[in-house]
Amino acid sequence: PLRSPPPPLPPPPPSSRRHTPRALMAQLTVASPTNIAVIKYWGKRDTALNLPINSSVSLTINQADLRTVTTVTVSKDFEKDRLWLNGEEEDVSASKRVQKVFAMVRGRSRQWEGMKVHVVSVNNFPTAAGLASSAAGYAALAFALGKLYAVEESYPGELSTIARVGSGSACRSLAGGFVAWDMGSREDGADSCARQVAPAEHWPELQVLILVVSDKKKAVSSTAGMQTAVETSPLLAHRAAHVVPARMLAMEAAYLKKDFAAFAQLAMQDSNQFHATCLDTFPPIFYLNDVSRAVIQFVHAFNSACGETRMGYTFDAGPNAVLLVQQQHAVQALAAVLTHFPAEPGSEASYVNRPAMQQEAMALG
Ligand code: ADP
Ligand code: DP6
Ligand code: CO
Repeated sequence: PLRSPPPPLPPPPPSSRRHTPRALMAQLTVASPTNIAVIKYWGKRDTALNLPINSSVSLTINQADLRTVTTVTVSKDFEKDRLWLNGEEEDVSASKRVQKVFAMVRGRSRQWEGMKVHVVSVNNFPTAAGLASSAAGYAALAFALGKLYAVEESYPGELSTIARVGSGSACRSLAGGFVAWDMGSREDGADSCARQVAPAEHWPELQVLILVVSDKKKAVSSTAGMQTAVETSPLLAHRAAHVVPARMLAMEAAYLKKDFAAFAQLAMQDSNQFHATCLDTFPPIFYLNDVSRAVIQFVHAFNSACGETRMGYTFDAGPNAVLLVQQQHAVQALAAVLTHFPAEPGSEASYVNRPAMQQEAMALG
């Protein structure tokens, strides 16, 4: 189910939050959900600030299922900023994005001056595999540091712009439900931030099924892939200027009307066009694999057997499928998925009562 993220953990007691001469350290843990775009962000007009060439819109995923948990600790005893991702230390000095997020937060606060921060972050889903780990990861980092440093937004969405500088898609993870990222027009990026179109409670029946086709790290990161696309794909330029603006309006309207067929069709078309721009990139990039393409064909066959659009799909920059479905069709959809794509023994889906589901799938033909 898609839900709004729960409220953040309560901040630590005032004595450890305020930078008094006695405060020698403080620690804060936050959780952030990931989000899956149904109109894709792909391409930057400014690579330093992560300003996009088109607006995008996404579903925030219930963070009980897919989330990043990040703990930030500031201490006078730390010698340098450090970050551990999934138990492995990353080289912070080599990561411009992490440094930019730190600099933006510190530039907006007088707290903890001169002290260093340690970050420990864990994703409970595949990292760098096309399930938007950078979105959950940088949303968590920006939010945690923003709270630790008691940053007060000087305009609505300022924290979202800090997350955006870490990873573009992260700006959309700071709100729940259906979230648009308006591309904005300012050079400093202050108007390029997330806006909640509607909370998840607006359409609680809308659910996603995530099919992990591969949890391996992708060969081409989103950052690198979209940059080559901007430089070489005429289709991407056409899409950004002439396709996405109308699609954004149609998509927001479909969500607000809870028009599933329109919503799912737009999502499928946008995913397909995004992957077409990958093929149009030179040299081409292949994020989808044979199983991904089989899932696409399966969804179309399922819908035509149903005589209506009951399932949609969208694929980010990776082979993993995100299926869109309404609750009333979720069992039927899952049953059909498991019939065509049997889950590996030991995987989560294999715990589902498959015989009953397969019967239902067979009864439906
Ligand atoms: P994805 O499709 O998973 O978003 P990207 O190529 O956009 O893939 O980004 C993956 C990168 O994002 C990782 O290699 C890592 O550098 C960064 N990242 C992922 N999770 C986190 C996290 N929890 N904290 C900090 N950085 C993260
Ligand atoms: C296909 O936000 O990961 O998931 O801004 O370079 O960090 P950077 O890229 P990233 O790109 C996401 C691309 C996408 C579509 C989307 O989430 O809108
Ligand atoms: Co990403």
